[in-house]
Amino acid sequence: MESAIAPHLRCPRSRERRIAEDYQPPFPAWTARGNTGSSQVVMGYFGVQWRGTAQAEKAGAVLDTLVARLGEREAARNIERAVFVDGAGWDNKVAIGYWPDPTAYQYWWQQHQAWWADPARECEEIGLYREIYLPRSTHFETLFSASDRLEGIGVMLGERSVEPIQEHGYWGGMRDRLPASQTENLVSSGTRRIMVETARRRRVISHEGVALIRSGQDWSDVQGEELTLYLERIEPTLNAGMDFLRDEGQSVGCYFNRYMQVSTANSGKPSRSFGMSAWRDLAAMENWAEHHPTHKAIFGDFLQVAHALQGRLDLRLFHEVAVLQAEAQILEYISCHDQTGMLNGAV
Ligand code: HEM
Repeated sequence: MESAIAPHLRCPRSRERRIAEDYQPPFPAWTARGNTGSSQVVMGYFGVQWRGTAQAEKAGAVLDTLVARLGEREAARNIERAVFVDGAGWDNKVAIGYWPDPTAYQYWWQQHQAWWADPARECEEIGLYREIYLPRSTHFETLFSASDRLEGIGVMLGERSVEPIQEHGYWGGMRDRLPASQTENLVSSGTRRIMVETARRRRVISHEGVALIRSGQDWSDVQGEELTLYLERIEPTLNAGMDFLRDEGQSVGCYFNRYMQVSTANSGKPSRSFGMSAWRDLAAMENWAEHHPTHKAIFGDFLQVAHALQGRLDLRLFHEVAVLQAEAQILEYISCHDQTGMLNGAV
């Protein structure tokens, strides 16, 4: 067993972990590793939104263009695609790109900035957004319930901890895995502001300490009783939890939530989904995970099955969590409705 905090990010603590030194987790889990040599990574969410079948083809073509661009020089190291219907009933397609450092991202962005700025992007029926997050390596963490596959930022980092990690399987594990939690309490300050750029373009100027989670489920190898349990008990509860965050999230500090299905376009595997949400601060996210009946129930079910199968589950869970500085969030919305992403509740 090893600490989730990579050796080069460990430092003398001024804040204690929630576990004792000899704590043994109830099931194994791993974290992604890979020293990019940079102190910051980049996660870029690029989305299109539309309403009604008439616009579907055109919107799909815009996303295809974006995906092709993500693969050009200084390409994102991992590119994933997903779909979801948002709270206002609009269809959305999203491409996610991960870069190892801000310089690579900046170089890539310079090649595509003019395309983005072109008034041709300002179409009445199709919204377009980019949400770029640049977490410091001290301020993000990942968790994988299986050791054989990486997803998201883990694919870009390319490696995982050799041993299972110690800081997981208890409330507060997420915080304890964040290297910055050794010395910081990770609180937020400030509020969101909208900056109108043109009639159709808006930016959100965000605040310090926003917490972001992408929490994925992969049931492509699940069979038999475990599949029945997932489809009939865990997934409907997860769905209810995701609906709550999407529709009533503001009441618990969740700015937006998207329950996305990983796209099967370009040989993407079916049977994979993830929740992706942004929160006022890490504490609000912790609070929901620990206390909301939906997450409490799926957490309990997972622990029960993990125990019964002695940790040999075919359901794979992963998550990546980041706590962000205000200037590490670039949020731009073109012709998007008011409930889109970080505009939600700030307009
Ligand atoms: C089938 C779906 C899910 C299952 C079975 C599940 C189960 C779990 C489990 C077992 C843990 C503890 C992990 C560990 O430390 O070992 C956990 C933590 C957590 N989950 Fe989920 N989860 C699911 C989906 C989600 C989603 C979509 C979110 C999005 C908000 C989420 C938010 C969290 C958070 C924030 C924690 C960290 C809590 C802490 O360490 O204090 N989970 N979940």
